[in-house]
Amino acid sequence: MKNGYQFATLAVHAGEAPCRMTGALDTPIYQSTTFASANSDEMAAVYGEEKPGYMYTRYGNPTIHALEEKLAALEGGEAALAFSSGMAAISSAILGYVKGGDHVVAARSLYGAAYNFLNKKLPAMGASTTFVQSTRVEDFAQAIRPNTKLIYFETPSNPILEILDIAGLARLGRERGVPTMIDNTFASPALQQPLKLGVTVVVHSATKYLCGHGDAMAGAVIGPRDYIAHLSHDILRDFGGVISPFNAWLILRGTRTLHLRMPAHCANAQKIAEFLAKHPRVERVNYPGLPNHPGHDLAKKQMRAFGAMMSFEVKGGYEGGKKVMDRVQIFARAASLGDTRSLIVHSASTSHRAVPREQRLAIGITDGLVRLSVGVEAVEDLIADLEYALEA
Ligand SMILES: Cc1ncc(COP(=O)(O)O)c(C=O)c1O
Repeated sequence: MKNGYQFATLAVHAGEAPCRMTGALDTPIYQSTTFASANSDEMAAVYGEEKPGYMYTRYGNPTIHALEEKLAALEGGEAALAFSSGMAAISSAILGYVKGGDHVVAARSLYGAAYNFLNKKLPAMGASTTFVQSTRVEDFAQAIRPNTKLIYFETPSNPILEILDIAGLARLGRERGVPTMIDNTFASPALQQPLKLGVTVVVHSATKYLCGHGDAMAGAVIGPRDYIAHLSHDILRDFGGVISPFNAWLILRGTRTLHLRMPAHCANAQKIAEFLAKHPRVERVNYPGLPNHPGHDLAKKQMRAFGAMMSFEVKGGYEGGKKVMDRVQIFARAASLGDTRSLIVHSASTSHRAVPREQRLAIGITDGLVRLSVGVEAVEDLIADLEYALEA
């Protein structure tokens, strides 16, 4: 595809073309583990990467390749690599920069497994992470050491929706010679394109908005071509977190409607956040689309819309949060996010139950905190569902 097409055109077309042999318009699912060569010379050339071609799906596959091309186009990156899950992508992407003896500067509010990887797995291999206890770029600068090899963050963050300054952190990384990596799962490239703001690498749980329908696990890393080649050759091949061709096809199909789904998700979320903010049984709403959110102005600057993830504090603490969960009828009591269906999670009793209470409170995950992934149902029905649940 030519450069310069708009996002919607790239979402539909990038990475895909009619099959040269059959004319099949939809990218076929190359459900094959291995690929045959015409003769020994060709096989040697493909193995030696002197000739383009496929040999084994862990090393590359045409359906997976189509997805990688599309994701690179949507994020505006040089290249992309798909993985079997978001965590396979995140752990591999970090290991692409960090080895024993190195140091990472990371945001405090991160997806739980990413936090664990930085907090437990890296130290086990002799590397360390400093979690910055604020959203200020100056505090990230303070945390950089001579052996810092990566700045890692999420914005909006999971589950308290902190907003960090993408361009500011990217600038800091450039000035100090440290690559920056952002988890763009909550926003998706339809709402923010961090590479265009100077970030080095974007990672995704493609299980979420990129897929959009809650039916496939996947991850992706998008960044400079030489770094992606390093991940493909030195990490994915050895750790083996390859995506299946079928899941790659499902994510490809999902991304074609990303630009249509996201505005619908966001419009519903804004109305729900405004409803919750006025509700007498709600203590606080974390949604960057509300003018009193501390990151509202920054989000307005760096995002096309405010996303469809939010969390809110129900009066009545731990039991109050659980009661709301028990009464909803449309919202599914389910983990994950980015599905067309609306989902609800009470963080303290589920996703963060293993985190000691004091530590949980310190990062803003209070006893009554409920996280919503707002779907694309009729917003009136979603509001009525929450209104009924909050009467409890
Ligand atoms: C922000 C974020 N990043 C990464 C992940 C991990 O993705 P996966 O579950 O696809 O491994 C999640 C999963 O919930 C997430 O919410």
